[in-house]
Amino acid sequence: MIHHSEIIADLARVYRPKVYVELGLYTGENWYKVLPYADKSFGVDIVDRSIQGGKIYIETTDKFFQHFDQEINMAFIDADHCFESVLKDLKSVSKLLHPQGVIILHDTDPESDHLFDKGYCGDAYRIVALLQDSEEYNSITMPVAEAGLTIITKKNNTRVYHRENNESTRLAG
Ligand SMILES: C[S@@+](CC[C@H](N)C(=O)[O-])C[C@H]1O[C@@H](n2cnc3c(N)ncnc32)[C@H](O)[C@@H]1O
Repeated sequence: MIHHSEIIADLARVYRPKVYVELGLYTGENWYKVLPYADKSFGVDIVDRSIQGGKIYIETTDKFFQHFDQEINMAFIDADHCFESVLKDLKSVSKLLHPQGVIILHDTDPESDHLFDKGYCGDAYRIVALLQDSEEYNSITMPVAEAGLTIITKKNNTRVYHRENNESTRLAG
């Protein structure tokens, strides 16, 4: 079965983020695959497992966003899997996201009900319904591996949208 990190690393290989942020590292399986494709990588986990490379912060994601202020090109949200925490992490990343940045969520489409357990995917999947009704985000949820992935970009932030906006501003002036 394909592992979620293969998709995320492929996305990073194509996208080449200047700044990559991973919330929740565990043993670094995904982290080490993405690292070669990012200019700067920042990882966050409450447990120190001696992960190498990039810059690692051993703290909660809440604490991290109290001091981190760099623009983010790509983020993988995979720390605390309860809905409220995922939503909070999403909002924190979103505030720093580059207009054409991409956010990936894990655990959003578990393949069976036993994965709703807190120790696995929790109720992170509840974010999908919220995103579908969102005026702020585009999202696609995919049945990747056992936990599922959601890929998010901001609406009205395509490169064409920005060019057209600049063009109309110039013409109006
Ligand atoms: C599923 S693992 C991450 C797996 C990793 N992203 C990967 O794909 O290889 C979740 C990690 O999040 C960490 N974690 C849980 N709650 C957290 C929080 N509030 N802030 C930061 N890290 C947290 C746990 O210690 C655990 O290592």
